[in-house]
Amino acid sequence: MTQDSPHDKPAATPAASGEAKLWGGRFSEPTDAFVERFTASVDFDWRLYREDIQGSQAHARMLAKVGVLTEAEAGEILAGLDAIRDEIAAGEFDWQVGREDVHMNIEARLIERIGDVGKKLHTGRSRNDQIATDIRLWLRAAIDDVLRLIRGYQDGLVALAEREADTVMPGFTHLQTAQPVTFGHHMLAWYEMLERDAERLRDTRRRVNILPLGAAALAGTPYPLDREYTAELLGFDSVTRNSLDAVSDRDFAIEFTAAAATLMMHLSRQAEELVLWTSAQFAFIELPDRYCTGSSIMPQKKNPDVPELVRGKTGRVYGHLMSLLTLMKSQPLAYNKDNQEDKEPLFDTVDTLLGSLRAFGDMVPNLEVRRENTLAATRKGFATATDLADYLVGRGVAFRDAHEVVGRAVRIAQERGVDLAELPLADLQAISPAVGEDVFTVLTPEGSAAARNLTGGTAPEQVRRQAAAAREHLAALARADR
Ligand code: ARG
Repeated sequence: MTQDSPHDKPAATPAASGEAKLWGGRFSEPTDAFVERFTASVDFDWRLYREDIQGSQAHARMLAKVGVLTEAEAGEILAGLDAIRDEIAAGEFDWQVGREDVHMNIEARLIERIGDVGKKLHTGRSRNDQIATDIRLWLRAAIDDVLRLIRGYQDGLVALAEREADTVMPGFTHLQTAQPVTFGHHMLAWYEMLERDAERLRDTRRRVNILPLGAAALAGTPYPLDREYTAELLGFDSVTRNSLDAVSDRDFAIEFTAAAATLMMHLSRQAEELVLWTSAQFAFIELPDRYCTGSSIMPQKKNPDVPELVRGKTGRVYGHLMSLLTLMKSQPLAYNKDNQEDKEPLFDTVDTLLGSLRAFGDMVPNLEVRRENTLAATRKGFATATDLADYLVGRGVAFRDAHEVVGRAVRIAQERGVDLAELPLADLQAISPAVGEDVFTVLTPEGSAAARNLTGGTAPEQVRRQAAAAREHLAALARADR
């Protein structure tokens, strides 16, 4: 059983009665039982156990390298920590609220397992630089997971765009029919949103991937630590340059959550369109049944629960961003216990992103476009009115005059309940003598879309070109990942 899901986390057991605290030396009475519970973080920070152990093992190896520990001592510590990681992964670890947090649960267990040598691990280190390191390691891996899912979703969008490059649908402004666009073009718009989200996350990752260990509690440590060596062992790009800053600031988590909020905002926009498009009134698409649910009372219902839920979950990520910003606001240097509150918002942000991206990455590429409906919808609402005006401009009419003329044509068509393309040639020529027999080619939605054949335009040819470029970009990113 893995403990990666918050739903199957091991419950922390009540405080071991009267166990001496690892920091208990200066205290004259035990911690109040309520306070112990109130201040503990193990209920949620247990999720950092892999990173905590990874960080401790690198620290121990570094301590041996600089001669603070003997190789034999470091070896015992490394093996003890390996065994503890196995215990935790197997669900056999006894998490204790009395031991407060993930760090002291693991350290206390290490001392239980290997004896006094275990007490040497914490040399030249504080929980303050330890937690800062743990979060950075955890968030770095989380960002990589999110980036992989974004890329998978983008891959799917590109494939869908290619499949639907020629599919015409109404493009909207103000949610009113504006001009014909291609469905593929619309999917590539979603792709671009995600591409910027991925760029923001890659950029954030550079500022996450810096090692705080060595900052100790706040001022650094007199031990001759080789911080660069620890950084190398843990895959950090560099070490923090100021110990006070290193233990206190969580701006990297804020930055990540801001990027996450923007990503969720984008998913909520996509969700909204999916919900609209599945309605009987639009009927543009069909979502895979496995992503929908029925109604207990209305037999005809197929509800787009997944997009609705993603749209709704956007709210919690916005909330987490506000929590973290407020948590950090006005904090004096250096570490303050306030920062313990950074974890739950951060964890939930990552869980929400992973879940939402996983769902969209499979659901959207597998949707079915009801092409006859998108085409029929494009024929309503005079989507080619601009094309008619452009046509007249091509025949020497000034654009403002053309606009006026087409407005009159739209009114006539509306009165008769027909589309512009259905008006007889004679009627169009009565409105403007500039109209020729070839006018009907520009009045079709397909002709309108195909005419917008410039970089970034909606023409099928452009969609194929952009999709090919996107494919190449994604493949290059995937190669760089190995
Ligand atoms: N649980 C703490 C946190 O999440 C770890 C650091 C505690 N440091 C301290 N001096 N109490 O921030």
